[in-house]
Amino acid sequence: MALRDIKKHPKDGVLRKQSREVKEINKRIINLLDDMAHTMKDQGMGLAAPQVGILKRVIIVDLGEGVEEYINPVILSSLGCVVGEEGCLSIPGRNVNVERPTFVKMKALNRHGEDLIVDATGMKAVVLCHEIDHLDGVLILDRMISEAEGGDTDD
Ligand code: CO
Repeated sequence: MALRDIKKHPKDGVLRKQSREVKEINKRIINLLDDMAHTMKDQGMGLAAPQVGILKRVIIVDLGEGVEEYINPVILSSLGCVVGEEGCLSIPGRNVNVERPTFVKMKALNRHGEDLIVDATGMKAVVLCHEIDHLDGVLILDRMISEAEGGDTDD
């Protein structure tokens, strides 16, 4: 496993590009997943492949119960609406208020190519939406309702 460089906005234009669907889960994708987990460790709750410069539809999330990997994630349906504070490893030192659904149903593949259906609420729903946005070149600044107070604090 290797640490990968986290791309930063606005310096790295790759963050604004559209990621491509994964057609084949090969060694490169497995390495990418392993490296992304290593890179995110103790730093954040989610990471998307474009944040390490790879334009493929791959995300990982970790809400404190281990890393979950999702390939070609698609939101099938969502419900509700909540405004909360979000930060992004690609936009250090900036926290903003963003509106997100309170529930999402998502489909994706795991690293074995098996179909997954995930129902997520609360923080997990928020993080999944945030990471899937990255796959379409969308950043929290695009969805910002207001600047969050407190900057780099989480409490
Ligand atoms: Co982000």
